[in-house]
Amino acid sequence: MTEQANFTTDQYRRAMGRFASGVTIASTLAGKQDHAMTANAVVSVSLEPTLLMISVGTESRWFEAAQESGVWGISLMPATGRKIAEWLATPGRPMLGQLGRVPHHRGVTGVALMDDALTTIECRTVALHEAGDHHLFIGEVIALEVPESAHAPLVHCQGSYRTLTTSPTDT
Ligand SMILES: Cc1cc2nc3c(=O)[nH]c(=O)nc-3n(C[C@H](O)[C@H](O)[C@H](O)COP(=O)(O)O)c2cc1C
Repeated sequence: MTEQANFTTDQYRRAMGRFASGVTIASTLAGKQDHAMTANAVVSVSLEPTLLMISVGTESRWFEAAQESGVWGISLMPATGRKIAEWLATPGRPMLGQLGRVPHHRGVTGVALMDDALTTIECRTVALHEAGDHHLFIGEVIALEVPESAHAPLVHCQGSYRTLTTSPTDT
């Protein structure tokens, strides 16, 4: 039986906007070219085997590029990465040279990984599921970097970027 929805899509967006998240840059290759976008719908799925999931808008250029490439990486951004996150969420930015002013290095899969990331994780797609207007990429983790010194994370909540200003709570 289908229930009548008592909410609008915008209310749903606002509801989930209260779920504070970290912010990642998801990178892949479009042919031989880098393509990267800001993403927070990233979930750890399994430890054995190690699987990571990202939910990607089917209309995004990233979807097409990652589907073709089969490999992708995520870079978990520090609070200082806000400008990069804003840039890589800008619709219609030029594909060519979009990482020109973004400090990055190459991972083992060849994808671009952000310098100063709190961690980077590279994956090979092992499953792809359609889910409404998004597709879920399930990736087997191939490589990761966990630098010794972690900076404060960039946080996204209620439509804006934030930083953590409190210490871990024990209450
Ligand atoms: C904080 C934040 C998180 C986002 N998370 C996602 C996400 O998880 N998946 C997604 O498909 N788009 C996400 N977006 C939107 C994409 O970054 C945006 O649509 C981007 O322009 C897509 O790039 P492309 O079409 O050039 O591939 C997010 C945007 C912001 C600002």
